[in-house]
Amino acid sequence: MSDNNNQCSSNDSDQANDQDWLDPVFLRTHFNDKSIMVGVSGGIAVYKVCTIVSRLAQAGANVTVAMTPAATKFVTPITFQALSGNPVYTTSWEHIESQDPQHISLADRCDAVLVAPCTMNTLANLVQGRTDDVLTLILSAVDRKRVPVVLAPAMNDAMWSQPSNLRNVELAVTDGFTLVGPGVGWQACRHSGTGRMSEPADCLKALQQAMKE
Ligand SMILES: Cc1cc2nc3c(=O)[nH]c(=O)nc-3n(C[C@H](O)[C@H](O)[C@H](O)COP(=O)(O)O)c2cc1C
Repeated sequence: MSDNNNQCSSNDSDQANDQDWLDPVFLRTHFNDKSIMVGVSGGIAVYKVCTIVSRLAQAGANVTVAMTPAATKFVTPITFQALSGNPVYTTSWEHIESQDPQHISLADRCDAVLVAPCTMNTLANLVQGRTDDVLTLILSAVDRKRVPVVLAPAMNDAMWSQPSNLRNVELAVTDGFTLVGPGVGWQACRHSGTGRMSEPADCLKALQQAMKE
C-alpha cells in the first residue's frame, strides 16, 4: 500500500520534499491560524505524533489533542499539552471549557482532523459510529462536509491483514475518510510488513492536501 492513499490533486506543494514538510516556515504557509484536531489512539507509533503536534504548533496552528485512554499509556497528556500549548482532552466527562457540550464546540472549531496513530480498534469504532471515548465522541460531531478527517493507521502486519480490518479500511474510504499509509517495513513488534504509521512529513502533507480539496 502506498504511503498516501487519498485521491489528492497535485499542486506546487507536491514539489516539496520531506524536509520541507517538517520545516515550520514552509508549514506556516499551510497551517498558520488553522485549528487542527489531532486524535491520538493507543499504538506504539504515538511517539511520531509528538513531532507532528510540535511542527504544527511551530507553524502557527492552534492544535488541540484528544487521546483515548489507551493512548495515555504510551505518552502522557502533559507531553502533548506542552507541545501544543493547549489543554489535552482524555475523557468525555471532565469539561475543560465552560461551553457545554464540549465535544460539539471542539468539533465546530476544527479546520481539519488527523487521527494518528489510528489503531485497529479506533478505525473500527469510527466506521461503526461508536462514541465511547473522547476522541470518537468529538469525531462524531465533526461536520465532514466541511472538515476533512485524515486517518493514519498503524498496527502489526497481521492485524492490518485481518479481514475485519480490511473491511473497515474499505468502509472508511467509502465514508469519505482520507487515509495516509500505512507504510511497509520494520515494525515495533520486530516484524516487517504492512502497518507502519506514515512518517510525520507524509501525515502533514496528507493533511494539507485534504484541506485544500
Ligand atoms: C505495547 C502495545 C502496543 C500496541 N500497539 C498497537 C498498534 O500499534 N496498533 C494497534 O492497532 N493496536 C496496538 N495495541 C493495542 C491497542 O492499544 C488496543 O487495541 C487498545 O484497545 C486500543 O484502544 P484505542 O483504539 O481506544 O486507543 C498495542 C497494545 C500494546 C499493549
